[in-house]
Amino acid sequence: MTIVATTQDRKQLRRLAERIRSRRTTKLFLKQAVDRKLILDAIEVARWAPNHHVTEPWHFYVLGSQKIAECVELTRIVVTEIKDAKMGNFKADSAAAIPGWLVVTCSKSDDELTQREDYASCACAIQNLMLYLSEAGVATKWTTGPVTRDNRFYALLDADPDEVMVVGIIWYGYPKITPEQSRMDVSKIITETD
Ligand SMILES: Cc1cc2nc3c(=O)[nH]c(=O)nc-3n(C[C@H](O)[C@H](O)[C@H](O)COP(=O)(O)O)c2cc1C
Repeated sequence: MTIVATTQDRKQLRRLAERIRSRRTTKLFLKQAVDRKLILDAIEVARWAPNHHVTEPWHFYVLGSQKIAECVELTRIVVTEIKDAKMGNFKADSAAAIPGWLVVTCSKSDDELTQREDYASCACAIQNLMLYLSEAGVATKWTTGPVTRDNRFYALLDADPDEVMVVGIIWYGYPKITPEQSRMDVSKIITETD
């Protein structure tokens, strides 16, 4: 049986497709703070991601200003150690300009397949979160800079690196500049079979 989409259905599909396409990783944000309630709502929606065995492996840290300041200083230290003080100061200054910080962790598993699938679920949850915020006019950047792999970062979050892994920092805020992006021709990534 062929199910025919109504005009209204097609309009909603086009709108959804445009939302997915137009979400952009954004680096420059306005100073204006984002309402905490919107972020909590986004997290509530994010966790409806597909999740094998419904392990719910994610945890979301919504950072306040004190913790953000500590993350900025740790960024300065970590990048200075890896590169040099000039780069450390540059990265810290850029980080200090970000109005909103979320950290997403994934619970670790000794079982390799569970770990892989749990990480995949966390990535899906982050995409849900970013799309929800995008619909609300809030831009994001998922970052996995060196600070996210540093044990001192786990200590800041009071997270145990034996128990969880940091999937990323999600910076968020109202966009100052929205970059352009492109993707290769879609035919290059599709194989249709009999
Ligand atoms: C797992 C993951 C880690 C990422 N880490 C970084 C990062 O450390 N720095 C950065 O500039 N962008 C990072 N990004 C964002 C990508 O660079 C971005 O998605 C890509 O440039 C495509 O742009 P778009 O998100 O606007 O489509 C990350 C994205 C993912 C999925």
